[in-house]
Amino acid sequence: MKFYKFLFVFVLAVAAFCLYAEQQQAEIKKLTPRDNMNIPSINRGGESYRIIVLGDVHYDGAEYHHHLSEKWKKIIKAIPRNIEMWESRMGKLLSAAKSQATSKTEMVIQIGDLVEGNCGNGEAHVKMVTDAINFMDNFFGEIPFYFCAGNHDYNGDDAQAAFDKAALPYYSKMLGKKVASRSYYFTVKNDLFIFTDYNNPDLAMIEKALQENSEARYKFLVTHGSVIPSDLPTLHGYFLSKDVEKYNCMRDLLLKNEVIVLSGHSHVCELIDCVAQEGRLTQITLDSRWTPAYVIEKSPGSTTPQQYGRRQKTPEKIAEYAKYQGVIKEFYQNFTAAYAILDINNDGIVVNFYVGDKLESKYCYKLR
Ligand SMILES: [Fe+2]
Repeated sequence: MKFYKFLFVFVLAVAAFCLYAEQQQAEIKKLTPRDNMNIPSINRGGESYRIIVLGDVHYDGAEYHHHLSEKWKKIIKAIPRNIEMWESRMGKLLSAAKSQATSKTEMVIQIGDLVEGNCGNGEAHVKMVTDAINFMDNFFGEIPFYFCAGNHDYNGDDAQAAFDKAALPYYSKMLGKKVASRSYYFTVKNDLFIFTDYNNPDLAMIEKALQENSEARYKFLVTHGSVIPSDLPTLHGYFLSKDVEKYNCMRDLLLKNEVIVLSGHSHVCELIDCVAQEGRLTQITLDSRWTPAYVIEKSPGSTTPQQYGRRQKTPEKIAEYAKYQGVIKEFYQNFTAAYAILDINNDGIVVNFYVGDKLESKYCYKLR
């Protein structure tokens, strides 16, 4: 009996060691710096248009949480904060964003965490997602509204099926065909837009979309969690952060295709332009939740590429972020609620970040 006990413990120990060794082996691949990061703009032709971009909004209301136990209501401090935020300030931010629309505004993109979730009941979650979609769709009127799934969008009891019930018919309506997946793509004036579900990204679909549209003028990936990790010590995951091998492959593909990433999740306003021998990946990260902490801008927002990774605390994280040293051309970070306007022209793309309900740009960058 003792022998079997020993054998069992031995097998367990070997399995644990193998798992540890595998995790130690898989590392984020270091990118190769270029001698010259200055890439001249090319006139790619084609039509000009504008996009309004929103980060996390966490749509919420007391009516969606009746099924949540008192214990959880106390634990989830974001619920009263979201309710207060939607009652007092979110309308101002959304109105400011809408006022930037022109006759050439093609769409509004919301980068996931459209809702707070945490309803404790599937039906309540269907109502929360449906109400949020209807609110945004009505608010922006003629301008088509698109969004992707973030972690909060199906967070809670029976929430995944509830999200599908509310979101998939909307995706189908917008695309004019049956959409049965939380990931989808389409083109606008020869530019490719891929929307992926952050929680369960459809990598085959991303590859297919890029392959089918290899000649697209510009390529965008809308993913709730960013591809290049935001520089925050408290970051809870990013795109494929739980699978390093898939991450390395997918990041190479995105670099090769010079993809522009639109992301949220990390609750920061950030721009990272990564230019390496492997290609170029430019990433916008936004947080549109106007929490009380964001009433006043927290930081002036000027940052240098060398400062990327400066917020990391542990030796492992410092080493992980150091892998991007030498390949970051532009790094901007600001802890504030913001929306962005993308102006897509034949000679490039310009992004402007706007803070709260401001109409003057806080930060401007030429992406391409
Ligand atoms: Fe969020």
